[in-house]
Amino acid sequence: MSQLFRRKSVNVMISQSQNKTLSRSMGIMDLIFLGVGCVIGTGIFVVTGVVAAESAGPAIILSFVLAGIACALAAFCYAEFSSAVPLSGSVYTYTYATLGELFAFLIGWDLMMEYVLAIAAVATGWSAYFQSLIAGFNINLPASITSAPGTGKGGLVDLPAMLIILAITALVSKGVKESIKFNNIMVFVKLAVIILFIIVGVWYVKPDNWTPFMPFGFNGVITGAATVFFAYIGFDVIATASEEVKNPGKTMPIGIIGSLAICTVLYIAVSAVLTGMIPFTQLGVGAPVSLALESVGQDAIAGIISIGAVMGITTVILALIYAQVRLSYAMSRDGLLPKMLSSVNNKTKTPFKNTWLTGIIAACIAGFVNLSTLAHLVNMGTLAAFTLISIAIIVLRKKFPELKGSFRVPFVPVLPIISALLCIGLAISLPGITWIAFVIWLAVGTVIYFVFSRKNSKLNN
Ligand code: ALA
Repeated sequence: MSQLFRRKSVNVMISQSQNKTLSRSMGIMDLIFLGVGCVIGTGIFVVTGVVAAESAGPAIILSFVLAGIACALAAFCYAEFSSAVPLSGSVYTYTYATLGELFAFLIGWDLMMEYVLAIAAVATGWSAYFQSLIAGFNINLPASITSAPGTGKGGLVDLPAMLIILAITALVSKGVKESIKFNNIMVFVKLAVIILFIIVGVWYVKPDNWTPFMPFGFNGVITGAATVFFAYIGFDVIATASEEVKNPGKTMPIGIIGSLAICTVLYIAVSAVLTGMIPFTQLGVGAPVSLALESVGQDAIAGIISIGAVMGITTVILALIYAQVRLSYAMSRDGLLPKMLSSVNNKTKTPFKNTWLTGIIAACIAGFVNLSTLAHLVNMGTLAAFTLISIAIIVLRKKFPELKGSFRVPFVPVLPIISALLCIGLAISLPGITWIAFVIWLAVGTVIYFVFSRKNSKLNN
């Protein structure tokens, strides 16, 4: 029994990380760019339209506020942990140091599902904007190869989504420095097109479109929040990079909270403008932001936005692959997953095999599963992780007062408790099938833990 809750000592972890092979090359701006790069993507460019049309109407603005509050609270917890335990692996590592091995494995397992499915979900959104972009040049790919089955579009496989994942995998597997440079340029473009949309779109807002403001009632707002939550996913990815940043104690909290703040402001502005431009009922399409601009005759700007969205969503895929690889790398290094996942290639100094394995699995899922199923599952995984990290902060303060980061969550335990309750509340609004899939995934994880991980854990030595 005590084996299940054995913990990894933080001091041992820090000394281990000092003789490992990843290099500390990222500064604060790199980190904020990684954060924003990972957060703003398919959520705002695609999911917003679907949620406005089907769940929340113009009150999607409130859904974003609600989901943003849940994320901000969790972000505080992340920030404290990442400054107190500045090691890669994120919630997984923090849980290992506080709640013990079994919880750590399960949360790591949960996050692996979240990241891999998120890579696939985001690539699906990329595919939608890519198609809208080339349609501007009168190139229309056959329906059978441009969407997953079951979306009502006659698709058999989403080939563009698969190919973009494999292309980014090739890039990430070559090394972090090159990836970060590429990431920074793309994030810049993405922010520029979002601001362009707000500046151009605001002139076409007709306040009439905002009534009725809450066509699906307050329940719609909550269901909407549970879905648009997807748009915020990714700021936690910054925490997985803490072994590769300079001066993590200071850099990590600023990076996490800063990226979340930037995204929240942009989301509220974009959703207000979008629902003000055209009636919400028309927004349930693959590329709603371009559609809104086209419908007011701004075709050129719509084209620019599509290019920006394609580039911007690319960075999300990049950051998520990066996160998934670093997480499974950390778990493998601890002996909880097979060794192959932490072998670092001599030439590229990256976990080369692990990166390709991630890319190939995500590409296969992206080809055949539709966006809304994927988004719900991803949200479920994330909400579970946020709930756990909120609880873990309370444990950290009680049991390990000596672990003091440069950032401290205010009003512990009240704030973490509110955070956990909000996350559980949002998870309850997700479809029942999501819960079933989630429970099955955790059950498989539990079996793997008892058959493999417990025996191979480095803590046995
Ligand atoms: N937050 C990420 C996105 O919106 C997953 O694409």
